[in-house]
Amino acid sequence: MHLPKRVTIFEMGARDGLQNEAAHVPTDVKVAFIDRLSATGLRWIEATSFVSPKAIPQLADASEVFARIRKAPGVRYPVLVPNLKGYARARAAGADAIAVFTAASETFTQRNINMSIAQSLDVFREVVAQAKADGVWVRGYVSTAFGSPFGDVVTAQSVVDVSVALMAMGCDALSIGDTIGVGVPSQVAELVPQLAAQIPLERIAMHFHDTRGTALANVYAALQCGIAAFDASAGGLGGCPYAPGATGNVGTEDVLYLLHGMGIETGVDLAAVRAASRFIAGALDHALTSKAFAALEAADARATAAS
Ligand code: COA
Ligand code: ZN
Repeated sequence: MHLPKRVTIFEMGARDGLQNEAAHVPTDVKVAFIDRLSATGLRWIEATSFVSPKAIPQLADASEVFARIRKAPGVRYPVLVPNLKGYARARAAGADAIAVFTAASETFTQRNINMSIAQSLDVFREVVAQAKADGVWVRGYVSTAFGSPFGDVVTAQSVVDVSVALMAMGCDALSIGDTIGVGVPSQVAELVPQLAAQIPLERIAMHFHDTRGTALANVYAALQCGIAAFDASAGGLGGCPYAPGATGNVGTEDVLYLLHGMGIETGVDLAAVRAASRFIAGALDHALTSKAFAALEAADARATAAS
């Protein structure tokens, strides 16, 4: 079996994670969380979201967060942008990497960004053209790639069509998302080769949520298909307020534990990610869901108690 030797992790905790928290997380805490993530070896940290503050009040402080984080050399900090207004705000704050986002489900796209998929592609065509002219790196998200929270049918072909459209308008890379955590490995094994027939594999990341416990199995299935980039969230934070029932991203600690255990390099220090997760957990009203985080914390506590 030929698994990739090296994998890139896109850290989602500060955006996909914090956009879904009920507790108010102060700007200082967000900045300190991202600064801790910057010291872990992660090369891609999605920092925040320049969407409508009415849609996502949790990230209404995007401009301040982005301006205040310490940008570590060699680390990129993409931000979510839904339209030209968001793009202008992101640029004013200093962003040089953005992510646009649409979906394979028509109903989800309507609820999430108040556009049809076709309308969203028209909006993003303008955003991406502007970004390319400005030398800004662009990622395109395809959400709900394995199922919709609203029951409308999502086919692999619809995922491929949206993906191809995003690449054609100039996106540098894609993230294919199981927003509600319904996918299983056989679906991953079916979808990835269809994407790879049209788009270079090295431009595709997979984004799994662990809502039904299948995220790590899906990561493994994607590795077997040659995918070498994954989105993950420190401590397993995350979810989308517009996707009822969706829980967090697969935990960064869980993915690192799996990859490092199989001898796959990431360049990321698992203990340092745990420290960042421990820090943000102190600002939340619930325990973190990452199993590797919980197990490694408990093992450390036992070792400390015994010494
Ligand atoms: N940043 C700040 N404000 C914005 C904005 C942006 N990127 N885009 C729109 N707005 C403001 C408008 O100025 C307008 O304000 P007003 O009511 O004070 O005049 C208001 O939001 C409505 O603007 P409109 O263009 O009509 O947008 P809409 O109501 O159709 O909403 C989106 C469309 C895309 C802006 C909104 O649905 C959104 O931000 N969704 C993001 C959802 C999300 O982040 N989900 C999680 C990620 S998966
Ligand atoms: Zn997500």
